[in-house]
Amino acid sequence: MNYLKYIARTGRINQHPQGRLGTHLLLKKIPHNSKVKTILEIGCGTGHTAAILSNDSSIHYEGIDNMLEMIHFCNKRKKKLNLFNCNFTHHTKNIFPYENDFFDIVICESVLAIQSPEQYNQIVTEVFRVLKGKGLFIFNETIWNLSTSLKTKQKINDTSLSHFNIIQADESATLTNWKMMLPNHGFRIKHVEEINDLEKTKYNFAVNPSELKSLLYSDKIKYLSLFNPKELFLYLYFKIINQKIIIEKGILKSYIITCEKNSLTYEKS
Ligand SMILES: C[S@@+](CC[C@H](N)C(=O)[O-])C[C@H]1O[C@@H](n2cnc3c(N)ncnc32)[C@H](O)[C@@H]1O
Repeated sequence: MNYLKYIARTGRINQHPQGRLGTHLLLKKIPHNSKVKTILEIGCGTGHTAAILSNDSSIHYEGIDNMLEMIHFCNKRKKKLNLFNCNFTHHTKNIFPYENDFFDIVICESVLAIQSPEQYNQIVTEVFRVLKGKGLFIFNETIWNLSTSLKTKQKINDTSLSHFNIIQADESATLTNWKMMLPNHGFRIKHVEEINDLEKTKYNFAVNPSELKSLLYSDKIKYLSLFNPKELFLYLYFKIINQKIIIEKGILKSYIITCEKNSLTYEKS
């Protein structure tokens, strides 16, 4: 079974820590001033975060994803919801198709942790290159608690791979390792927010008109897909397996990490 292909086909959204709340907590970290004009999302999935951001017509959004099916869905969403300030690109290499010092903000959710260390290091190098000086890289990821044993990580990853064709998180993905990795790439970590056991009632993020249209569109596609027996089977299968491998408290932790590009511009060495 390939979970990512399934979510691309059925237009699923918010496939990351704390779902909609996680995205809004992340977006809250973007400074609300006229200086923020260009935003890149790595692993844009089916394009729902683009729809939320497109409500501000002064922003130009670029989304990249290495799965063609995701980009097809993003383009359907773009056409349906008239996301004229959003652009989606299928991109399989971790060298991004953008100039140096181009973006004010780069975001991603549930993308870095599922890469190998070589891949996530390449992505962070590229994020540094395409960000403007003092630009922010903000990401929402589930990574391993430091005390989690290698055996437990391998067991969870094996189960996840066999049922979803995707790992939970690379074994090296811990807060301690990433706190060393990010400054090595020239980032200053500004803020780390743990978002595991949020008291959800504490937060009330208003739905903007673009988000509302996108939510309704996603719901429609999701419910229509359930009339197809194959998709209904997959829906139930993934739901049951998800509950079966409920991860004990403390094995994995979710964070929103905000880092700032330290230097003013990218200097090629
Ligand atoms: C777990 S999904 C999360 C999608 C989206 N952030 C969401 O929450 O709905 C991860 C996404 O990242 C994409 N992805 C994984 N590795 C990538 C890479 N190296 N470059 C670009 N996209 C990648 C996948 O195709 C998928 O769309």
